[in-house]
Amino acid sequence: MQTKGFKYRYNQLTEDNCSWLVHWFIRKRHECLRIVSGVRVKLIARIVGVQIGRDSVFYGVPYFFRAPKSTISIGKNCAFRSDKTTNLIGLNHKCIIATRTEGAIIKMGTNCRMSGVSLGAWKEIRLGNNVLIGANTIIIDGDGHNDRNNSHAKAIIIHDNVWIGANCTILKGIEIGKNSIIGANSVVTKNIPENVIAVGNPCLVIGKRINFTRS
Ligand SMILES: CC(C)(COP(=O)(O)OP(=O)(O)OC[C@H]1O[C@@H](n2cnc3c(N)ncnc32)[C@H](O)[C@@H]1OP(=O)(O)O)[C@@H](O)C(=O)NCCC(=O)NCCS
Repeated sequence: MQTKGFKYRYNQLTEDNCSWLVHWFIRKRHECLRIVSGVRVKLIARIVGVQIGRDSVFYGVPYFFRAPKSTISIGKNCAFRSDKTTNLIGLNHKCIIATRTEGAIIKMGTNCRMSGVSLGAWKEIRLGNNVLIGANTIIIDGDGHNDRNNSHAKAIIIHDNVWIGANCTILKGIEIGKNSIIGANSVVTKNIPENVIAVGNPCLVIGKRINFTRS
Protein backbone atom coordinates (compact mmCIF):
# COMPACT_ATOMS: atom_id res chain seq x y z
CA MET A 1 0.00 0.00 0.00
CA GLN A 2 1.26 3.49 -0.86
CA THR A 3 2.19 5.65 2.14
CA LYS A 4 0.80 9.17 2.33
CA GLY A 5 4.17 10.75 1.61
CA PHE A 6 5.15 13.47 -0.81
CA LYS A 7 4.83 11.20 -3.84
CA TYR A 8 1.31 10.13 -2.84
CA ARG A 9 0.26 13.74 -2.35
CA TYR A 10 1.90 14.76 -5.64
CA ASN A 11 0.13 11.98 -7.53
CA GLN A 12 -3.16 12.84 -5.88
CA LEU A 13 -2.87 16.53 -6.72
CA THR A 14 -1.83 15.99 -10.36
CA GLU A 15 -4.23 13.15 -11.29
CA ASP A 16 -7.38 13.91 -13.25
CA ASN A 17 -6.18 17.27 -14.62
CA CYS A 18 -5.16 18.43 -11.13
CA SER A 19 -8.83 18.42 -10.14
CA TRP A 20 -8.02 18.16 -6.41
CA LEU A 21 -5.86 21.25 -6.64
CA VAL A 22 -8.47 23.16 -8.65
CA HIS A 23 -11.14 22.05 -6.19
CA TRP A 24 -8.98 23.23 -3.28
CA PHE A 25 -8.47 26.66 -4.91
CA ILE A 26 -12.19 27.08 -5.54
CA ARG A 27 -12.97 26.23 -1.90
CA LYS A 28 -10.34 28.71 -0.72
CA ARG A 29 -11.79 31.34 -3.06
CA HIS A 30 -15.21 30.82 -1.46
CA GLU A 31 -13.68 31.09 2.02
CA CYS A 32 -11.90 34.34 1.10
CA LEU A 33 -15.11 35.65 -0.43
CA ARG A 34 -16.98 34.84 2.79
CA ILE A 35 -14.46 36.73 4.93
CA VAL A 36 -14.25 39.80 2.66
CA SER A 37 -18.03 39.90 2.10
CA GLY A 38 -18.62 39.59 5.86
CA VAL A 39 -16.58 42.70 6.54
CA ARG A 40 -18.25 44.65 3.70
CA VAL A 41 -21.76 43.58 4.75
CA LYS A 42 -21.17 44.57 8.39
CA LEU A 43 -20.12 48.02 7.25
CA ILE A 44 -23.02 48.41 4.82
CA ALA A 45 -25.51 47.09 7.40
CA ARG A 46 -24.32 49.66 9.91
CA ILE A 47 -24.71 52.49 7.39
CA VAL A 48 -28.09 51.32 6.07
CA GLY A 49 -29.46 50.29 9.49
CA VAL A 50 -29.90 46.55 8.96
CA GLN A 51 -29.68 44.28 12.02
CA ILE A 52 -27.63 41.16 11.47
CA GLY A 53 -27.44 38.33 14.01
CA ARG A 54 -24.24 36.73 15.25
CA ASP A 55 -22.49 34.16 13.03
CA SER A 56 -24.46 35.01 9.89
CA VAL A 57 -22.33 34.58 6.77
CA PHE A 58 -22.35 36.13 3.32
CA TYR A 59 -20.87 34.83 0.06
CA GLY A 60 -20.98 38.02 -1.97
CA VAL A 61 -22.70 41.18 -0.81
CA PRO A 62 -26.53 41.33 -0.91
CA TYR A 63 -28.29 44.52 -1.94
CA PHE A 64 -30.05 46.09 1.05
CA PHE A 65 -32.66 48.81 0.59
CA ARG A 66 -34.28 49.99 3.81
CA ALA A 67 -37.02 52.58 3.52
CA PRO A 68 -37.05 55.19 6.32
CA LYS A 69 -38.45 53.90 9.64
CA SER A 70 -38.71 50.36 8.34
CA THR A 71 -37.05 47.25 9.80
CA ILE A 72 -34.75 44.65 8.30
CA SER A 73 -33.66 42.09 10.87
CA ILE A 74 -31.65 38.95 10.14
CA GLY A 75 -31.34 36.27 12.80
CA LYS A 76 -28.31 34.38 14.05
CA ASN A 77 -26.37 31.89 11.94
CA CYS A 78 -28.06 32.71 8.62
CA ALA A 79 -26.29 32.30 5.25
CA PHE A 80 -26.71 34.33 2.08
CA ARG A 81 -25.24 33.53 -1.32
CA SER A 82 -25.07 36.49 -3.67
CA ASP A 83 -21.99 35.66 -5.72
CA LYS A 84 -23.19 34.03 -8.95
CA THR A 85 -21.23 30.79 -8.62
CA THR A 86 -21.17 30.10 -4.89
CA ASN A 87 -24.40 28.21 -5.37
CA LEU A 88 -23.64 25.86 -8.24
CA ILE A 89 -27.15 26.13 -9.65
CA GLY A 90 -26.06 29.62 -10.77
CA LEU A 91 -27.70 32.76 -9.49
CA ASN A 92 -29.48 35.27 -11.72
CA HIS A 93 -28.80 38.06 -9.27
CA LYS A 94 -27.53 38.78 -5.78
CA CYS A 95 -29.86 38.56 -2.76
CA ILE A 96 -32.01 41.69 -2.67
CA ILE A 97 -33.59 42.53 0.68
CA ALA A 98 -35.77 45.60 0.44
CA THR A 99 -38.39 47.33 2.56
CA ARG A 100 -40.31 49.62 0.25
CA THR A 101 -42.42 51.79 2.55
CA GLU A 102 -42.19 53.49 5.92
CA GLY A 103 -42.90 50.99 8.69
CA ALA A 104 -42.44 47.88 6.49
CA ILE A 105 -40.85 44.87 8.19
CA ILE A 106 -38.61 42.05 7.04
CA LYS A 107 -37.69 39.70 9.88
CA MET A 108 -36.04 36.33 9.72
CA GLY A 109 -35.23 33.84 12.46
CA THR A 110 -32.08 31.79 13.04
CA ASN A 111 -30.42 29.35 10.61
CA CYS A 112 -32.13 30.69 7.49
CA ARG A 113 -30.32 30.08 4.19
CA MET A 114 -30.91 31.64 0.79
CA SER A 115 -29.27 32.12 -2.62
CA GLY A 116 -30.00 34.97 -5.01
CA VAL A 117 -33.37 35.54 -3.36
CA SER A 118 -35.43 38.74 -3.57
CA LEU A 119 -37.45 39.77 -0.50
CA GLY A 120 -39.55 42.86 -1.13
CA ALA A 121 -41.81 44.13 1.66
CA TRP A 122 -44.34 46.92 1.39
CA LYS A 123 -45.88 45.65 4.62
CA GLU A 124 -44.31 42.61 6.27
CA ILE A 125 -42.37 39.46 5.46
CA ARG A 126 -41.58 37.11 8.35
CA LEU A 127 -39.45 33.99 8.09
CA GLY A 128 -39.24 31.56 11.01
CA ASN A 129 -36.17 29.52 11.95
CA ASN A 130 -34.40 27.08 9.61
CA VAL A 131 -36.09 28.40 6.47
CA LEU A 132 -34.25 27.37 3.28
CA ILE A 133 -34.93 29.32 0.09
CA GLY A 134 -33.65 28.05 -3.28
CA ALA A 135 -31.90 30.04 -5.95
CA ASN A 136 -33.65 32.97 -7.64
CA THR A 137 -36.86 32.80 -5.65
CA ILE A 138 -38.93 35.97 -5.32
CA ILE A 139 -41.02 36.79 -2.24
CA ILE A 140 -43.05 40.01 -2.49
CA ASP A 141 -45.93 41.08 -0.27
CA GLY A 142 -47.33 43.64 -2.72
CA ASP A 143 -47.93 43.97 -6.45
CA GLY A 144 -45.47 46.78 -6.99
CA HIS A 145 -47.63 48.78 -9.41
CA ASN A 146 -50.54 50.16 -7.45
CA ASP A 147 -51.34 52.61 -10.24
CA ARG A 148 -52.31 49.57 -12.34
CA ASN A 149 -53.96 47.43 -9.67
CA ASN A 150 -55.68 48.96 -6.69
CA SER A 151 -54.54 46.16 -4.39
CA HIS A 152 -52.94 46.43 -0.97
CA ALA A 153 -49.84 44.75 0.37
CA LYS A 154 -50.56 41.77 2.65
CA ALA A 155 -48.09 40.19 5.06
CA ILE A 156 -46.29 36.98 4.13
CA ILE A 157 -45.47 34.51 6.90
CA ILE A 158 -43.20 31.53 6.33
CA HIS A 159 -42.97 29.26 9.35
CA ASP A 160 -40.09 27.20 10.78
CA ASN A 161 -38.31 24.54 8.71
CA VAL A 162 -39.98 25.43 5.42
CA TRP A 163 -37.94 24.59 2.32
CA ILE A 164 -38.72 26.59 -0.82
CA GLY A 165 -37.17 25.26 -4.06
CA ALA A 166 -35.42 27.25 -6.75
CA ASN A 167 -37.17 29.83 -8.96
CA CYS A 168 -40.38 30.07 -6.94
CA THR A 169 -42.59 33.12 -6.56
CA ILE A 170 -44.42 33.69 -3.27
CA LEU A 171 -47.17 36.29 -3.61
CA LYS A 172 -48.82 38.69 -1.16
CA GLY A 173 -50.78 37.44 1.86
CA ILE A 174 -49.34 33.91 1.81
CA GLU A 175 -48.71 31.84 4.92
CA ILE A 176 -46.70 28.64 4.57
CA GLY A 177 -47.06 26.23 7.51
CA LYS A 178 -44.08 24.77 9.35
CA ASN A 179 -42.04 21.92 7.83
CA SER A 180 -43.62 22.23 4.38
CA ILE A 181 -41.77 22.00 1.06
CA ILE A 182 -42.51 24.13 -2.00
CA GLY A 183 -41.28 22.49 -5.22
CA ALA A 184 -39.00 24.20 -7.72
CA ASN A 185 -40.62 26.77 -10.05
CA SER A 186 -43.83 26.98 -8.04
CA VAL A 187 -46.02 30.08 -7.91
CA VAL A 188 -47.65 30.20 -4.47
CA THR A 189 -50.99 31.99 -4.67
CA LYS A 190 -52.86 30.38 -1.72
CA ASN A 191 -51.85 29.48 1.84
CA ILE A 192 -50.00 26.17 2.26
CA PRO A 193 -50.66 24.10 5.41
CA GLU A 194 -47.92 22.60 7.60
CA ASN A 195 -46.09 19.31 6.93
CA VAL A 196 -46.95 19.07 3.23
CA ILE A 197 -45.22 19.03 -0.15
CA ALA A 198 -46.78 21.50 -2.58
CA VAL A 199 -45.76 22.17 -6.18
CA GLY A 200 -46.70 23.87 -9.41
CA ASN A 201 -48.36 26.97 -10.78
CA PRO A 202 -50.65 27.53 -8.98
CA CYS A 203 -48.94 25.71 -6.13
CA LEU A 204 -51.05 22.77 -4.90
CA VAL A 205 -50.47 20.18 -2.17
CA ILE A 206 -49.35 16.82 -3.60
CA GLY A 207 -48.42 14.99 -0.41
CA LYS A 208 -47.43 14.93 3.23
CA ARG A 209 -43.95 15.63 4.51
CA ILE A 210 -43.39 12.96 7.12
CA ASN A 211 -40.55 12.11 9.49
CA PHE A 212 -39.23 15.65 9.43
CA THR A 213 -35.81 15.78 11.01
CA ARG A 214 -33.30 18.53 10.79
CA SER A 215 -29.65 17.61 10.81
C1 LIG B 1 -40.87 19.10 -4.40
C2 LIG B 1 -39.78 18.02 -4.44
C3 LIG B 1 -38.91 18.11 -3.17
C4 LIG B 1 -40.50 16.69 -4.49
O1 LIG B 1 -39.57 15.66 -4.58
P1 LIG B 1 -40.09 14.13 -4.44
O2 LIG B 1 -40.76 13.95 -3.14
O3 LIG B 1 -38.92 13.27 -4.77
O4 LIG B 1 -41.24 14.06 -5.52
P2 LIG B 1 -41.30 13.26 -6.90
O5 LIG B 1 -40.12 13.59 -7.75
O6 LIG B 1 -41.57 11.82 -6.58
O7 LIG B 1 -42.59 13.92 -7.59
C5 LIG B 1 -43.90 13.65 -7.12
C6 LIG B 1 -44.87 14.24 -8.13
O8 LIG B 1 -44.80 15.68 -8.07
C7 LIG B 1 -44.41 16.22 -9.33
N1 LIG B 1 -43.47 17.30 -9.02
C8 LIG B 1 -42.37 17.23 -8.24
N2 LIG B 1 -41.77 18.42 -8.17
C9 LIG B 1 -42.51 19.27 -8.93
C10 LIG B 1 -42.38 20.64 -9.24
N3 LIG B 1 -41.41 21.38 -8.74
N4 LIG B 1 -43.31 21.21 -10.02
C11 LIG B 1 -44.35 20.46 -10.53
N5 LIG B 1 -44.51 19.14 -10.26
C12 LIG B 1 -43.59 18.56 -9.47
C13 LIG B 1 -43.76 15.07 -10.07
O9 LIG B 1 -43.87 15.23 -11.45
C14 LIG B 1 -44.55 13.89 -9.58
O10 LIG B 1 -45.79 13.86 -10.25
P3 LIG B 1 -46.52 12.45 -10.58
O11 LIG B 1 -46.86 11.83 -9.24
O12 LIG B 1 -47.74 12.86 -11.35
O13 LIG B 1 -45.54 11.65 -11.35
C15 LIG B 1 -38.83 18.21 -5.67
O14 LIG B 1 -39.47 17.79 -6.87
C16 LIG B 1 -38.37 19.65 -5.84
O15 LIG B 1 -39.02 20.48 -6.49
N6 LIG B 1 -37.20 19.97 -5.24
C17 LIG B 1 -36.68 21.31 -5.20
C18 LIG B 1 -35.20 21.33 -5.61
C19 LIG B 1 -34.66 22.71 -5.52
O16 LIG B 1 -35.19 23.64 -6.12
N7 LIG B 1 -33.61 22.89 -4.73
C20 LIG B 1 -33.08 24.20 -4.44
C21 LIG B 1 -31.63 24.29 -4.74
S1 LIG B 1 -31.05 25.93 -4.59
